Amino acid sequence: MLKFPDNFAWGVATAAYQIEGAWNLDGKGESVWDRFCHASGKVARGENGDVACDHYHRFRDDMRLMAELGLKAYRFSISWPRVMPEGIGQINEAGIRFYSQLVDELLAANIRPLVTLYHWDHPQALEDRGGWTSREMADWFADYAGLVAGRLGDRVTDWVTLNEPASFIWSGHVHGVQAPGRADRTLSMAAAHNANRAHGMAARAIRASSHGPARVGIALNIEHYEPASDNPADLAATVRVEAKRILLFIDPILRGKYPPSVLATLPKLEPFIQQNDLVQACAPLDFLGLNYYHRHRIRDASGVPVASPSAPQGETGQSIVAPDGIHAVLARLHGEYHVREIMVTENGFNRSEDTPVNGRVEDGPRIDYIRDHLAAVHRAIEQGVNVTGYFVWTLMDNFEWAMGYEPRMGLVHVNYATQTRTIKQSGLWYRDAIRAGGIDAG
Ligand code: FCB
Repeated sequence: MLKFPDNFAWGVATAAYQIEGAWNLDGKGESVWDRFCHASGKVARGENGDVACDHYHRFRDDMRLMAELGLKAYRFSISWPRVMPEGIGQINEAGIRFYSQLVDELLAANIRPLVTLYHWDHPQALEDRGGWTSREMADWFADYAGLVAGRLGDRVTDWVTLNEPASFIWSGHVHGVQAPGRADRTLSMAAAHNANRAHGMAARAIRASSHGPARVGIALNIEHYEPASDNPADLAATVRVEAKRILLFIDPILRGKYPPSVLATLPKLEPFIQQNDLVQACAPLDFLGLNYYHRHRIRDASGVPVASPSAPQGETGQSIVAPDGIHAVLARLHGEYHVREIMVTENGFNRSEDTPVNGRVEDGPRIDYIRDHLAAVHRAIEQGVNVTGYFVWTLMDNFEWAMGYEPRMGLVHVNYATQTRTIKQSGLWYRDAIRAGGIDAG
């Protein structure tokens, strides 16, 4: 049995837009994801998060499920337009009340809340004023973060500022395949830089406004990249991918600078950097959130013609399930970046074929995936990396962004026609691991 530390945060993660539904109820404003789903034609089968898992109405039932799984921690996100419909100015008390009740229920069930302030669904009203491409977005975000910390910080200790800036910048601002659907390489660099500033400014605002102890982190998606061959072109492509996906975010946040590989790979970035910006971006973290899913083998594709100007350019990758990859990333964060505390804020497995048969959902491959990744995390802990929690993506099947409802990644199956929840075999397995405080290595 591989035992984990006593107060290890065994959790699951979700995001507001993917589960809540109630997209226009009780004073909620429109988010960029509402607009993207309703208007872009870019979401599979024209699906949207209007209803999703209807968690807004069913959160008490979902809480019972979490208690049944024996979770110690729950990472969820706050929908910015639910608490501030226009992003600035007016506060929607009904929205605050929803999250406040959720926090109370979690604490009553002894489940530690970890609150993500931004999981991609900013108010459309702010997008209309430039969104992340506007420098003001960092101020707006810090004000909103301070407001939420002021209202929930008496009960919530753990905060994640942004979820995966690399995803919303590259998918949402370069390739246009996710909200807000922009495809502008120049402005995307303003957006990335403003997101980094926003993180640091929000971290300070949370600490200043919270009425209790506040621990602040960010959830970065750091996959493991390796060259597909030892051909120099593939090695160079791997350096570029790391610069774009990892260093563009982690270096300003942890070290207060953009390294040479970032400035060389992304020459459009530098004009947006103003004096003091990097001092603002770099706020000491209490923990780093790591979202990890795959290892990627990177091949140079710079000579390959692309279908449209917004399509990915320069490198192609192949994703591989690789528990070794999470170990390598954890070791690097510890060794190279000297991160003092890491929580794995997402890790999980898609199996679209999950279906209940006589009340059971057999999802053995998900159990294997989670067990093998946990074993790799355990190895890192034994080697001295301070990993204090692990959050499975995700509690229940939900709206997987531009892929709609087809991917199923939950420990709990959701029948969207009836909103029936069924705990999958992986959920039961996870419950047993939590009870035992560890796993059998398999
Ligand atoms: C991550 C996102 C999360 C979910 C998983 C599968 O990139 O943060 O919302 O979509 O992937």
